[in-house]
Amino acid sequence: MEWIRYHEKEKVFELRTENSTYQMQVREYDTLVHLYYGSPVGDTLITDRIVCADRGFSGNPYEAGRDRTFSLDTLPQEYTAYGNGDYRINGLEAVQADGSDTANLKFESYEIRPGKYSLRGLPAMFGGEEEAQTLEIVLADHASGLKVHLLYGVFPKFDVITRAVRLENTGTEAVTIKKAVSMEMDFEYRELDAVHFYGRHAMEREMERNHLGHGNWSVGSIRGTSSHHHNPFVILCDRDTEETHGNCYGYALAYSGNFVFETEVDQIGQTRVMMGIHPYHFQWTLKQGDTFETPEVIMTYSEEGLGKLSRNYHDAYRQNLIRSKYVDQPRPILVNNWEATYFDFDADKLYHIAEEAKNIGLDMFVLDDGWFGKRDNDWCALGDWKVYEEKIKGGLPALAEKIHGLGLKFGLWVEPEMVSEDSDLYREHPDWAFKIPGRAANRSRYQLNLDITRKEVREHIMNQIFTVLDACKVDYVKWDMNRSVDNVFCAALPGERQGEVYHRYVLAVYEMMESLVQRYPDLLFESCSGGGGRFEAGMLYYSPQIWCSDNTDAIDRLKIQYGTSFGYPVSAMGAHVSVCPNHQSGRITPFETRGIVASSGTFGYELDLMKMSEEEKKTAREQILIYKEMEHLVQTGDYYRLENPYENQKYVLWQFVSKDKKEAVVCGVRLHSEANPRIYLCYPQGLDAEMHYEDTATGKVYTGAALMKAGLPLPLTMGDYQPVKFTFKAVEK
Ligand code: GLA
Repeated sequence: MEWIRYHEKEKVFELRTENSTYQMQVREYDTLVHLYYGSPVGDTLITDRIVCADRGFSGNPYEAGRDRTFSLDTLPQEYTAYGNGDYRINGLEAVQADGSDTANLKFESYEIRPGKYSLRGLPAMFGGEEEAQTLEIVLADHASGLKVHLLYGVFPKFDVITRAVRLENTGTEAVTIKKAVSMEMDFEYRELDAVHFYGRHAMEREMERNHLGHGNWSVGSIRGTSSHHHNPFVILCDRDTEETHGNCYGYALAYSGNFVFETEVDQIGQTRVMMGIHPYHFQWTLKQGDTFETPEVIMTYSEEGLGKLSRNYHDAYRQNLIRSKYVDQPRPILVNNWEATYFDFDADKLYHIAEEAKNIGLDMFVLDDGWFGKRDNDWCALGDWKVYEEKIKGGLPALAEKIHGLGLKFGLWVEPEMVSEDSDLYREHPDWAFKIPGRAANRSRYQLNLDITRKEVREHIMNQIFTVLDACKVDYVKWDMNRSVDNVFCAALPGERQGEVYHRYVLAVYEMMESLVQRYPDLLFESCSGGGGRFEAGMLYYSPQIWCSDNTDAIDRLKIQYGTSFGYPVSAMGAHVSVCPNHQSGRITPFETRGIVASSGTFGYELDLMKMSEEEKKTAREQILIYKEMEHLVQTGDYYRLENPYENQKYVLWQFVSKDKKEAVVCGVRLHSEANPRIYLCYPQGLDAEMHYEDTATGKVYTGAALMKAGLPLPLTMGDYQPVKFTFKAVEK
């Protein structure tokens, strides 16, 4: 199949997916302009929408001679640099050896290749020649020899186009890069909204929608991680776009460090969009022959609203980003001891919880923080990845063996990027922590960031951890990261290279994670950063699941999981049933409701099973069986957001449908009870209108059309926060 074409005569590049088209053109003076991104347009090349006009104060390239209408300041382009009369935000800032800040990017060549490009040391979607194609366009700054390779990966099936950039210095003098985004794009004259996902610790990925007015709008992170505060995922859409209709564009950066998503609406109403590494304290010097690769932006387009856009991402990530063998397999249902015991445990207490886990029907016991060094609180021991023998009498390998002996899998928590000042590691190597000479370090959760940009540091940490994982035959690892990166200074690099450290930190995290997944291909890996502080596409390349939030309150989770679902598959969201009153919110919710919310994720429990009532244990046993019946829908089905928790104060509903549309489950929560209540209807989506479906609770049979168009009444319930669930199975009639 030809998904990427170059139309020689018109000099137009055309990228096609099943439901989208992307076009660009090489114009006067070898300028690469952006023509169109959106719904398919047949064989028309969209070359006539660019209107050049003489606009005051918008300069003209020297080659344009007396033509005052050709200006980089107003042309829609693919990738722009500062210093060329384009006064909008630009994607590339390159400081030349003479100190000037400019690069004049001219089209030079292109190549179309089967399969998907990959990036060195960075997460990226993968795809063989049946699934993807690559376009590489080379732009060159002739004066310096700096080349910009624009990389495009086309995945027709998911309506996904990826973008990344490789910079190459083919000149003789060094060039210092101060900004190099991964993707830049100019939209035509059009009113757009931006949907983004902001938050804070324990309340991640809240959704907000803003209209893009004139001027600049941006979200990003300079915390060294992608952060709880702004997710590296933004949707742009038409003003009338909703869940089931309208044009929308997704931009997801597969990167776990400082990032920026920027827009500028210019003087004539065009919108420039870019995304990539945040330029704050970023500097990368390219000597002769050096190259630098940016992380990847994964874009998708939907003309059928936000629901379809999300399903594009879910499928693309599950099939061509997440590498774990667990991606489409049942995940062990776990119990994690964090909220059950915090640091207060011994070997017996843990074993009793594990025994009870077996008794209830769980598959795995996960030992969280507190098993290493002298870790009795969060003040100490990070960096000492040796078993705390006095606490775990008989040693961790013996405990792990006993837990394995119960027929359970065994999982372990680690936080490899950190060091406590009160640790043997720090006492031995105080210089291994990030610290700025002559300044006191900023602490957070009492801990410091390790300078893992240094090879000896990463190797020391990973070797300690590997020793424990081997000795305990660990089946699952939860990799945590509990502070923002600060005191950024690498003692091993000279002053002029300190601007590399933030990015080198992220590369180091990826190298360490890669060493883990390569060494243990069967390991189930869950990443975590104080809950969901690094919930992004970059992490999904290494771990098929991410702890969604430290907030386990079922009602807060409705919003957190709703927001997360826009950009990420539900099968990646760590979600656990915890105790009530909830430890984060103090709220009391029914056990069944906690189960229904947690079962729309990677299901597990995080409470002291020993303290559960017999009634709760019975409910838990049922929950586990019910979850096992629907988990294939969570893993591989299509996800629909039926009711928006920001708008509907009465109830929240969501739904899974199998790919063959023969099975569907609607889950939800009725929020506040009402006396003499109104009747509310649930309208499932995504069913086959012609098929007949049985509601397995009542045995009644409806057409898909009847369910989707006429709806079904929600059950009448008493009390706040009641669970809702419908299961539909296709039947012959
Ligand atoms: C973070 C994680 C929690 C738990 C604690 C342990 O906050 O998100 O799940 O592991 O650390 O310290």
